[in-house]
Amino acid sequence: MFGKPIGIAMILLGLVQCRGGGDSPAVEEPGAKAVGQASAGGVAEREVSALFDESRGGAPREIQLPPPDTDGGRPLMQALKKRRSERSFSERPLPPRVVSELLWATAGVNRPDRGLRTAPTARNWQEIDLYVATVSGLWRYEPERHALSFVHGRDIRAETGLQDFVGAVPLTLIFVADKGKMGDNTELRKSFYAGADSAFMAQNAYLYCASEGLATVVRAYLDPDELAAAMNVKPPREVTLAQSIGYPAK
Ligand SMILES: Cc1cc2nc3c(=O)[nH]c(=O)nc-3n(C[C@H](O)[C@H](O)[C@H](O)COP(=O)(O)O)c2cc1C
Repeated sequence: MFGKPIGIAMILLGLVQCRGGGDSPAVEEPGAKAVGQASAGGVAEREVSALFDESRGGAPREIQLPPPDTDGGRPLMQALKKRRSERSFSERPLPPRVVSELLWATAGVNRPDRGLRTAPTARNWQEIDLYVATVSGLWRYEPERHALSFVHGRDIRAETGLQDFVGAVPLTLIFVADKGKMGDNTELRKSFYAGADSAFMAQNAYLYCASEGLATVVRAYLDPDELAAAMNVKPPREVTLAQSIGYPAK
């Protein structure tokens, strides 16, 4: 964990628009050593560089998210009234508070004593991993710690779907089912449960976006194999859905 989690989170969230500078194309599993390196330059870029450099020690690198405000937001009926899909986004980055609350709403632990989540899963398998793609790279949400673990430093947003807008949206959620957690079921049943469980999470994200005035659209129009390769996700883990999230275009 970092000494300045909020500052690092702001970098993650793209408040620093540091695209270039030799991010590594290599893909690493969460918690593995990172191999990328950001360009030298301004303070912000040096911080990004430090973020990458820290990983070289081999320690798992995590960004601790600020606690979500679980007493805020619009009343449920108002959020339902506003829930919709939008495909025009501002490139304005999301602040850490919003990312924290979005991730908690989508996949967070709401009953810590039992490790249960804001979204239901069949047999409580909790088989859907939630990934976050931003300009700064790919991260995995760790619900138990309400943290993000670094996967790799490549911007793969354009690879998360087959529609033109997807590459410029500040934050993309990617839902990945670990079918290895789904017991002795047929592939068909596993796919059904994985789709259902992903969709519950996506609807949570929709409702948070409606509450917070964000634009979002859940997306199945993607190349799951290409996206899995960009994420270094391998069987029995499979991409189910993606979801673009940002402020609405003016
Ligand atoms: C499983 C699922 C997959 C979807 N895939 C896409 C997609 O790939 N691209 C897209 O633009 N919208 C996608 N949508 C959004 C639908 O087009 C949208 O929900 C529908 O048009 C109704 O609009 P509304 O969400 O505003 O009510 C998807 C929705 C669902 C439930």
